[in-house]
Amino acid sequence: MARAHSSAPDAEAGNLAHVVMIAGAAAMGGFLFGYDSSVINGAVDAIQKHFEVGPGVTGFTVAAALLGSAVGAAVAGTLADRFGRIRVMQLAGLLFLISGIGSALPFTVWDLALWRVVGGCAIGIASVIAPTYIAEVSPAAYRGRLASLQQLAIVLGIAVSQLVNYALASLAGGSSLGQLGPLQAWQWMLGVEVFPAALYILLSLTIPESPRYLVRVGRDAKARRILEEVEGGDVDARIAEIHEALGSEVKPKLSDLRGPYLLLPIVWIGMAISAFQQLVGINVIFYYSSSLWQSVGVNESDSLLLSLFTSIVNIVGTFIAIGLVDKIGRKPLLLIGSAGMAVTLASTGFAFSHASVVGDQAHLSFAWGAVALVSASAFVLFFALSWGVVTWVLLGEMFPLRIRAAAMAVATATQWIANWLVTVTFPTLRDWDLSGAYMIYTAFAVLSFLFVWKYVQETKGKTLEEMGR
Ligand code: GLC
Repeated sequence: MARAHSSAPDAEAGNLAHVVMIAGAAAMGGFLFGYDSSVINGAVDAIQKHFEVGPGVTGFTVAAALLGSAVGAAVAGTLADRFGRIRVMQLAGLLFLISGIGSALPFTVWDLALWRVVGGCAIGIASVIAPTYIAEVSPAAYRGRLASLQQLAIVLGIAVSQLVNYALASLAGGSSLGQLGPLQAWQWMLGVEVFPAALYILLSLTIPESPRYLVRVGRDAKARRILEEVEGGDVDARIAEIHEALGSEVKPKLSDLRGPYLLLPIVWIGMAISAFQQLVGINVIFYYSSSLWQSVGVNESDSLLLSLFTSIVNIVGTFIAIGLVDKIGRKPLLLIGSAGMAVTLASTGFAFSHASVVGDQAHLSFAWGAVALVSASAFVLFFALSWGVVTWVLLGEMFPLRIRAAAMAVATATQWIANWLVTVTFPTLRDWDLSGAYMIYTAFAVLSFLFVWKYVQETKGKTLEEMGR
């Protein structure tokens, strides 16, 4: 049943501007997610030297944040159903703030790791709450594009963190250990996020609670007012639809996810989409790109430049996806992305296999270096225009309302665990065989294609309640 758009075009345009603002504010969580998860890239060497610890402890400090994210993602849904979406955004903002201050002023590497876990929890919460909230306040026709704002915010956060790292290191005389006023550059890198964190908290004070949450807790009148503001059209019918979707039993429990194969098939599908998004190795690029390029003979400053270039490619791809997601749909985009990633990952790995070892330093010829760079950039482009955006859009909309929050939590936690796995194993894989590592990511890209082909259903243009049915 398609929803009638009875309101005047002008009113709809007005509503749309309002919704874009609301979704944009919520997507600040994504910006902090991108910033906080990739800022460590620039600080990690300095941390290792400053605290005089080995690579094992350093790796632990980096990966600890990702485990915090898994925890944050796992509890966010329950918290959001109990306290509302807005309160949970404020909690995430507060945790980002505390983590920014603590990480900038650590006494030992251990309390630094602890502050990173706190920030990681905030990242996990933000990764669940922003897409949930945005999907719940968006009219169906724009939902894909609005949900894409989350990924756009993430990639902007990543790019800004790299710019900030580069700028701070340059200001401190070209080193992240350099002194800048009372602190060293790496401390500023980790601390600067208090500004977007504070902004996130302020913005969350200006946006309305999700109508679907309000109906769940019996505040229909308020839900009606908000729906009038953001959607217009037949609001009473929408409220009735939400009620119907909520059914009589509204308490979301993890046990609701149980199904014939331990979990409901739709939950497995969500978990698999999440895992594939990570297992293709995208964050090897965003967390380790400079070490990656250096391991094939690129010097340090050029490798920083390449990282910046990659994050710009990432932004471009994201804009392309936003333009396409409500037009050609989720499934075709995922298929195009998987195919493109499989080819480009394979050619990246093939290029790396031509590295020759001179002394104890690997080296790529100019020609193979160019193949590696073009392939790796094309890989990021294919990821950004497909899985980067579509994963977040699908996770926000694919689950029936009754289980949405819990299922989102499980799926997103899966994503963080997969991210953690890739992140902790990469250094070992790289030392074992860099091109071999890329063959593994290629295999996952191929599997992701087959998986989407067989199991993913198109959700473009349907209301959340229609999908629930
Ligand atoms: C997606 C992934 C995230 C990754 C980013 C890169 O948001 O979930 O892990 O860092 O894309 O653009």
